[in-house]
Amino acid sequence: MFKEATLYSPVINNEHGRVSVIFAKDHPGYQDRPYQEHRARIADLALQHRVGEPAPDIPYTEAEHETWHTVSTELSAKHRVHACREFVEASELLDLRHDRLPQLSDVSARVHPLTGFTFGPAAGLVAQRDFYGSLADRRFQATQYIRHPSFPRFSPEPDMIHEVVGHGTHLSSNRWATLYELLGKTVRRLESDEAVSLVSRVFWFTIEYGLVREDGRTKVCGASLLSSCGEMEYFLGADIFPFDAAAMGRQGYLVEKYQPVLFRAESFNHFEDFLSEFLTSIDDDSELVAA
Ligand SMILES: [Fe+2]
Repeated sequence: MFKEATLYSPVINNEHGRVSVIFAKDHPGYQDRPYQEHRARIADLALQHRVGEPAPDIPYTEAEHETWHTVSTELSAKHRVHACREFVEASELLDLRHDRLPQLSDVSARVHPLTGFTFGPAAGLVAQRDFYGSLADRRFQATQYIRHPSFPRFSPEPDMIHEVVGHGTHLSSNRWATLYELLGKTVRRLESDEAVSLVSRVFWFTIEYGLVREDGRTKVCGASLLSSCGEMEYFLGADIFPFDAAAMGRQGYLVEKYQPVLFRAESFNHFEDFLSEFLTSIDDDSELVAA
């Protein structure tokens, strides 16, 4: 089980044999019965999905479309200021509309011709090896729910905004798609859970939270930062260190609050070279794993 697990509202089969989602008391949807039933239906559809089929269409509500509109418009404005060049160029290729929340199958249909990646549905938490392993097949398992409409700027769990704006944009770029695939192949060949755990931490501080130096300024590469309005306002206040796999492995990460420590590559080329080198060289006996 990996730490991101604490972010997900668990999906269970209840005593009546029906799929339901358990919300923590501090979740914005904790007392919203229709939202909970909607989430359960989305989870149920994901559980019925078979690999190779398009993701199921979700009957998103007008309030959910409005949330998407509000957040994706604000994120786009922030990307123009803070996102690294590779992300801005990939956004132009993906060309998401802001007025309606897209179906995951539509996102997949747009991304696939660009890089060969497809998106399939995840009901909730996907086991670590399953999630990373599917990347080796250029398949990304994404949640299809969207955050509660009462808190459009905040989500305690990764939702469609994170998956589509963050990872969907990454996977419209061949350079990122190559790194994601390599990540999947690396996890498939590793046998020890400790080695996979190290890869997961490096993934966290690069793909999810990585920064890059560009024209003398610090720009954002990571999918989690680029899909969070709040974190894009905060990241320059974090302690920023050079890319270093050993330091990333030692660094604890927070899943409920903004990251106090971030890592920055010297350029996007350096970002790529660092990850390629780390992923191709790590093995179960690596000193980094034992450290
Ligand atoms: Fe993510």
